[in-house]
Amino acid sequence: MSNNQTENWGSRIGLILAMAGNAVGLGNFLRFPVQAVQNGGGAFIIPYIICFLLMGIPLLWIEWSMGRFGGRKGNHSTPFILDGMDKRSFWKYIGVFGIFTNVAVAAYYCYLESWTLSYIYHSMIGTFRGMDQGSVANFFADYVNIETTTSGIPYEAIWFFLLCLFLNTYILSKGLSGGVEKAAKIGMPLLIIFGLFLAYKGITLTAGKEGAIYDGTLGLNFLWSPNFDTLWNPKVWLAAAGQIFFTLSVGMGTIQCYASYVRQKDDIALNAMSAGWMNEFVEVVLGSSILIPIAVGYLGIDKVVELTASGGLGLGFRTMPFLFQQWGVVLGTVAGVSFFGLLFFAGITSSLAMGTPWMGFMKDEFNWNRQKGAWSFGLIVLALGLPTVIFFNEGVFDEYDYWAGTVSLVVFALAETILFAWIFGMDKGWKEITDGAEIKVPIFYKFVIKYITTSLLLFVFIGSLCNPAGGDWAGAFQSLLAGQGWPFDHGSIIAQISNMGLNQQIAAATDPLMIQALENKRFYINLSRTILLAVFLGTTYLVYIAYQRRVASGRIN
Ligand code: ALA
Repeated sequence: MSNNQTENWGSRIGLILAMAGNAVGLGNFLRFPVQAVQNGGGAFIIPYIICFLLMGIPLLWIEWSMGRFGGRKGNHSTPFILDGMDKRSFWKYIGVFGIFTNVAVAAYYCYLESWTLSYIYHSMIGTFRGMDQGSVANFFADYVNIETTTSGIPYEAIWFFLLCLFLNTYILSKGLSGGVEKAAKIGMPLLIIFGLFLAYKGITLTAGKEGAIYDGTLGLNFLWSPNFDTLWNPKVWLAAAGQIFFTLSVGMGTIQCYASYVRQKDDIALNAMSAGWMNEFVEVVLGSSILIPIAVGYLGIDKVVELTASGGLGLGFRTMPFLFQQWGVVLGTVAGVSFFGLLFFAGITSSLAMGTPWMGFMKDEFNWNRQKGAWSFGLIVLALGLPTVIFFNEGVFDEYDYWAGTVSLVVFALAETILFAWIFGMDKGWKEITDGAEIKVPIFYKFVIKYITTSLLLFVFIGSLCNPAGGDWAGAFQSLLAGQGWPFDHGSIIAQISNMGLNQQIAAATDPLMIQALENKRFYINLSRTILLAVFLGTTYLVYIAYQRRVASGRIN
């Protein structure tokens, strides 16, 4: 295979589907409904929509135009895309986030994605038939505890993780138009068909029929009845902003990479909107019409709220197989395969995107062909992902999600917005966004990007850094002024870095077994951070070497 394969998108529809596939992911169907419930149902929707309009859309335009701008200079990953936008040399190291985040998120995301493959298999062979709700929840608990199994396949979680990783790597090795674009062209329409079928079932669920206790619309109303009180609660805003980042895949580096393969005169303004709004349709319309309406229909609002408090991303796996069974053998099997199939297609079109910045970087800087790029990505994700599989219950998965899937996105989005709007400059930036545009981009977005998006991102960053306990900012300032210190929320970055919550739990525990378990957890959390830091530093070193090579060969950015 030659090293000079040039990558390009095969067609415009392929590009839009691939970009939409990058955005539409497990976050739309598993994370969004759970976030909405955890943050008070309809209370969440207003901040969510405002964050989409004032932060999501601007970031889409920023990232698409940065990508096309970088592609013009032969750069397909963020270190040298950013480097080309300002003469200061540190930007390429900020760009490391755009490779690091993808590799680290792919490590736990592929594990999550692999659950869907296993659940498709078990739905097909009827494993869940006859199980009650508790047994379905136990099945999941046993699945993620690799020492136990109820399915009869030893180490099942590891096998499905390997299978999922193999599929991802194989498709990536076929390149952009031959692999990623084809997967999106097949996966996205199927996902929408499965989604529409399940959303129809969710909305039309009727109390007293097919074992349902409540109408499906009860759950839908819970999600959609707006509650204006929460507009003043920063915690809800942070959750809404976090969901916008995760669902649109902004702040990751994948959009810049995909857009760097767009031809220079091609539109990006309309393309960005098509992919972004398609994601919102899938998230807001389909994402809210499946999991919650069906779960509430069978379990009631209180139980669903209780399950989401401890369920997180696992809620669908702990409940849906039981609920689908109430529809009879045939429809229940079809629904199970559709739901987990939909999740699989949503997941793989996102995880494929996560492989492309690494591949683009290694091709640009070290002339690695796509086979070498794809298989090396697979190996790195395997090495990083196995700890999330083996030590899932020790908190490794959640730790990766926190640092790579949450904090890194905010940090990088803030940095790139400052670079784009304030250093590269809004006049040049606006020209990049509107060049070749097939829509009229509202001019007020020039102001929005420069002032409002930047301020919102700063607010989100500072909020994440030192969010006070209970989101009570007024109380926190009072406490500070009274000399009693700042009461950090245990989820804030500062509290996380110092393991504040865990240390307090350990100090308060009296049972030696409990203390041992908590200390064990602290060990794995610190181990996860060390791994992530090593990946970040390793990538930084590669960027440094790449830069030295550029200097030696006189390659000017
Ligand atoms: N945007 C992807 C998702 O929503 C990562 O899952």
